[in-house]
Parts: sequence; C-alpha cells; structure tokens
Amino acid sequence: MEIISNPTQVEIKKAAQALMDGHLVAFPTETVYGLGADATNEKAVSRVYSVKGRPTDHPLIVHISSINQLDKWAVDVPENAIKLAEEYWPGPMTLILKRSKTAKDFITGGQENVGIRVPSHPVALALLSEFEKLGGLGIAAPSANRFGAVSPTSSEAVIEEIGSELSPIDLILDGGNCSVGIESTIINCTEDIPTVLRPGAITVEMIRFCTKHKLNISKVYERIRASGLIKTHYSPKAKVVLGGEAEKGDGFLAMAGISTPIDAIRLASPSTIEEFANQLYQAFRLADHKNLTKIIVIPPLGNGLSDAIRDRLVRSVTDE
Ligand code: TXA
Ligand code: MG
Repeated sequence: MEIISNPTQVEIKKAAQALMDGHLVAFPTETVYGLGADATNEKAVSRVYSVKGRPTDHPLIVHISSINQLDKWAVDVPENAIKLAEEYWPGPMTLILKRSKTAKDFITGGQENVGIRVPSHPVALALLSEFEKLGGLGIAAPSANRFGAVSPTSSEAVIEEIGSELSPIDLILDGGNCSVGIESTIINCTEDIPTVLRPGAITVEMIRFCTKHKLNISKVYERIRASGLIKTHYSPKAKVVLGGEAEKGDGFLAMAGISTPIDAIRLASPSTIEEFANQLYQAFRLADHKNLTKIIVIPPLGNGLSDAIRDRLVRSVTDE
C-alpha cells in the first residue's frame, strides 16, 4: 500500500477516487484510525472484514461529512438524535438509528439499525466531502486494527496492525496522532431514552445536558456488560492487570501523581484524564514493543471520560 503523510487536497481527491474504485483507504479520525471502504460497495466492505479478520455479523459505522447526509442512511430520526447531532457533530459520537434502504445487511450485520458518525479530524472531513462530490454516500470504517487487538492512534500503528493485509493499491493517509485516542461514544437513539452502548469522550453528562433525559449510569454499565464483548477486545499481547503489586519488569501505567513501583517500567505518565485516554493505546503498544508480559494499570478515578477509559481497561483484561 501507499502511505501519504499530511495529504494535500490533490492527494485527498486521489484517495476519494480510490474509495470510489473499490479500494481501501485507512484514514485518521480524532478518535482512532479507521479502515475505510465505500459503504455501498459490498465487495470493498467484505475486504474490510477480511483485512481485520472480523466476524461479518459485527456491524460497521458509516461516516458522513455532515448532518445533511443523515437522511441518506437513516429514517425516522428522532428529535433526541437531531439535538445530539447538532450539538456534538463533527465529533467523537456515533448514533445508532433506524436504517434506510441504503444501509444494506453487509453494513448493519443484518440489523434494522445503522451506526452513523461525522468525525472532526480535518483529513477525515476532507476525504468525506471529496468522496461525496464524486457521488459517494458514506465511508464504512471500523478501527484499523486486527479484530480484538488495540485500535491504532497513529499511521505507524495502522501499518503494524494491517499493513501486511492491504493490497498495493490501498492507501494509508497519515494525519498524525489521534487527539482523543479512544473510540467514539456509541448512543442507541432507537428507543425513547437514549442509551450509551460504548462510553467515550461525549460523556453521559453531555448527553443528559443536550437531551434533558436522565440516563441512568448504572444501567449504561449493565448494557455494556450484557454485550458479551468483555475480555475479547482492546487487548495488547501483554496481560493487563488492574491495580495490584508490580513485579520486576512489569509495565506500569498510572496518572503522573502516582509514583512508579521499584523495578517496574513506566509506560506513560498522563497528567490529565484527556492525556490518559490519548496515551492509553500507545502505552499498550509500547509494552508489546518491549515484549513485556504484564502491564499493571491504576485506573483513573471519576466520571465522564474516566468511565470510558475504565470501560476499555476492563475489556482489555485477558483471562489467565
Ligand atoms: O471512533 C470510532 O467509532 C472508530 C472511528 C474509526 O470512527 N470506529 C470504530 O469502529 O471504533 P469499530 O467497528 O471498531 O467499532 C464500532 C462498534 C462495534 O463494536 C460495532 O459492533 C458497533 O460499533 N456498531 C456498529 N454499528 C452498530 C449498530 N447498528 N448497532 C449496534 N452496534 C453497532
Ligand atoms: Mg474496533
């Protein structure tokens, strides 16, 4: 594949054309890098699944350039969803809505709902608007990692994850490190009260503020637990252990105020919750590069983005 750093407008047009021609384009978003395909092209989308090694019943998020494109993919969009979209798009939020006829089974995994997002990274937005100018309707993009592995937050991480699976004509757009660093908040808007299916940088408090609905946080977590995804996702090769004593040679990740245990290897020292999210997956990758067998993580306290970090940490914990 070809890697294009800080793509120019001409290079972005070339990437949009590559998508129209059925090739894959990995691109940066503010959350993590996505592996993009024309969301109406079944053959291109099936390559996304094979490159990732992902089961085909896991639905994909369709990315669009603005709220104006929403009607192409969703029908009966409720008031709540419109309020959220107006407030937080472009941004790290995916809305689950009733699908239109454009959202075929190969996107939704056969479900009647579709996930839609408008990302805010300038390269992603430029790619989406060029793609739409060429007649494209949306870009399906899961995180650009092998199934179950850690999402990539840099182009180097994309190459490490799926570089060997891409064809010579596929592209990787390099737009630097992702600013948020963990995946978008996913909100199910198909019921009267929105439910958070995956916490992220758009927090429960922000959703409450916008929709005036009282989301129940504990219920949010029951839903996450019920999804059955725990222990199979977001995992580095090293074993992740939450809290506990570090032994010699263990990796260690905690807020900057917490000192490194003797003989442990510090992987990151974030001084804010935002930095913790931003450095989490990089720290996991660093541990694997160093061939560490164990990472001790002291989870951040508090709500909001901390909830999202703890969600990813719990899911990254592997069984013995
Ligand atoms: O931040 C993000 O959301 C990134 C960037 C690239 O946009 N994308 C991402 O995609 O994380 P992916 O496929 O790695 O994770 C999307 C999650 C999957 O767990 C999938 O099952 C869920 O969203 N999802 C997608 N469409 C859905 C739907 N219609 N109903 C329920 N869950 C859905
Ligand atoms: Mg993913």
